[in-house]
Amino acid sequence: METKDIAPTLEKIYKTAGDFLPLNGTDYVEFYVGNAKQAAYYYRTAFGFQPLAYSGLETGNRETTSYVVVQDKIRLVLTSPMNSAHPINQHLAKHGDGVKIIALWVDDARKSFEETTKRGAKPYQTPQVSKDADGEVITSGVYTYGETVHLFVERKNYNGTFLPGYKAWNSTYKTEPVGLKFIDHMVGNVGWNEMNTWVDYYEKVMGFINLLSFDDKDISTEYSALMSKVMSNGNGRIKFPINEPAEGKKKSQIEEYIEFYEGQGVQHLALATDNIIDTVTQLQSRGIDFLRVPQSYYEEVLNRVGHIDEDIKKLAELGILIDRDDEGYMLQIFTKPVEDRPTLFYEIIQRKGAQSFGKGNFKALFEAIEREQALRGTL
Ligand code: FE2
Repeated sequence: METKDIAPTLEKIYKTAGDFLPLNGTDYVEFYVGNAKQAAYYYRTAFGFQPLAYSGLETGNRETTSYVVVQDKIRLVLTSPMNSAHPINQHLAKHGDGVKIIALWVDDARKSFEETTKRGAKPYQTPQVSKDADGEVITSGVYTYGETVHLFVERKNYNGTFLPGYKAWNSTYKTEPVGLKFIDHMVGNVGWNEMNTWVDYYEKVMGFINLLSFDDKDISTEYSALMSKVMSNGNGRIKFPINEPAEGKKKSQIEEYIEFYEGQGVQHLALATDNIIDTVTQLQSRGIDFLRVPQSYYEEVLNRVGHIDEDIKKLAELGILIDRDDEGYMLQIFTKPVEDRPTLFYEIIQRKGAQSFGKGNFKALFEAIEREQALRGTL
């Protein structure tokens, strides 16, 4: 059960990381959805996101409608097509609701496009300048796994609410934020024997580093098995674990995702909070369903992780999981899929020193996923 390839220290890695693609952080994540208005209501009501910007008929956009919601540093864009001829329909018919664009905030979108495409990235969009009264934004984009895209967003000469073409979205409907702060990591599911292809892609094309690896001995046992490698950019602000199915006694959860998403795509967004007990209490009261582990997990967990500041009874009541590494501990919990298809879900995470991803919870978690798969008839 040892983790392979653990890098000596994160700082050391970051210092030696390639810098041909400096990334300031995640700019936004755009979902293609069947009904952007209702999706925005869900993220506002259930997850406590706040209205930020809007594009649609009222802004002169007759092709698509987009609602942008925000919570601290997390920006989500929910986009639907406005007519049957729009190409987003094909994406929706094939994949259902899901992540299309992981937008990355850069200082130079032209250079980002040039550096990645010359290393073999498949172009999605050549550099484009868009302007309005608040300045200009330059975007460019490349494909990653499946039909998922990385859009490079250069906004240093822009002072508007979001992007040109959007107007500020004011609403009298108010919801309280639940304490979500930033995107800790975003996980991609890829097909059989594809993980190393995409690890290579992030290393060679994007200048990322492989921080951690989990093989099937770590994560499969008899449970819905997978292999995973965590890719990080040079400054550590962007972390993309990549999952591949592995052979187990039951169908891999990754295979189930790929079957229902009809391809490779984003499996989960991990959203960070400073107070997971408060955040999860609020999310549960607003109707978010989480995976649950048996109460026996809590009888043993403190032997594994040692002292924690939180009340273990409270964590048990909410179903929050705990793990520890050399640098500290972390608390995490996973939602059930947030669409009808068993595809994308969310992780809520609070790090108290630990920089790892919860390997100690894999077994309990995968048994919980397996119980859900059994209910869906997809094992
Ligand atoms: Fe995660």
